[in-house]
Amino acid sequence: MSWRATVLTLFPEMFPGPLGHSLAGRALREGRWALSALDIRGFAADRHRTVDDAPFGGGPGMVMRPDVVDAACAAALAEGPAERPLIYLTPRGRLLDQALVRDLAAGPGLILLCGRYEGVDQRVVEARGMIELSIGDYVLSGGEPAALVLLDACVRLLPGVMGAGAASAEEESHGAAGLLEYPHYTRPAEWQGRRVPEVLLSGHHAEVARWRRAESERITRERRPDLWSRRDRNDAAEGGIAGHPAAA
Ligand code: ADE
Repeated sequence: MSWRATVLTLFPEMFPGPLGHSLAGRALREGRWALSALDIRGFAADRHRTVDDAPFGGGPGMVMRPDVVDAACAAALAEGPAERPLIYLTPRGRLLDQALVRDLAAGPGLILLCGRYEGVDQRVVEARGMIELSIGDYVLSGGEPAALVLLDACVRLLPGVMGAGAASAEEESHGAAGLLEYPHYTRPAEWQGRRVPEVLLSGHHAEVARWRRAESERITRERRPDLWSRRDRNDAAEGGIAGHPAAA
C-alpha cells in the first residue's frame, strides 16, 4: 500500500489543489502516494448537519464538536493503512521542522485534521491522541493551507517523487547538515553588469564545493543564528564537520 494521506476538512474541494500539479501531482497520478479528503460535515448526526457550537465559558467564534470530529477520525482510520499518526493542524501545536517531515514521510502516511472557527473541542484531540502541529508562528484562517504545506514537504521525500533531483532532496536548505542552501546561478555569466562568482566558472569541483559550503555557513550564520547555534551543538557531538572545529 502506498503512502496515504487522509484529510478531514470542511472544505474537501481545496484538495489536492496545488498538490495536483508539478512533482506531487505527477506522483499522485503515478500512485506513489494517495490522497482522500473527507468532508467533516458528512459525519454530523442531525438534520441540519451541525458541526460546530458556541464555546462553553463564552467568547467569540465557534468550536467544532467532538462527536462529529471523532466520527470523521474513525472513518479516516478505517481507510488504512493502520498506524498512521493523526495530526491536528493548529497554531498552538509543536513547530514543524525538516526532521519531523523526514519522520512523517518515512511512515505509512498521515491523517490530517483541519480546524476552522476557533478550533476543535480539546477532548477529542486528547481522546484520539492527536499530535498538534503548527507550520509557523502566524495564524491562518483554517488548517487547510497548513495541511497542504505539510503534505508537500513529505511527498517530495517519497521514493521516486523527485526523479533526477533525488540526490539533491536532502542536500538543500534545512537538509541533513542543518544549513541554509548556497545561492544558485545560471547563464548568462554576466547579466546587467553582475557577474557570476568566478569560482563557479572555474570547473574546479573541489573549489566549487568549498565555496558553496562557505556560503551556506555564512548565510546560515547571518540569517538564522538559531539554526547556526543548534548546528554548533551537533558538531560538538560529532567531533566537528568537514575538519572544522565548531565555530563560535
Ligand atoms: N491553523 C491556523 N494557523 C495555523 C498554523 N500556523 N499552523 C497550522 N495550522 C494552523
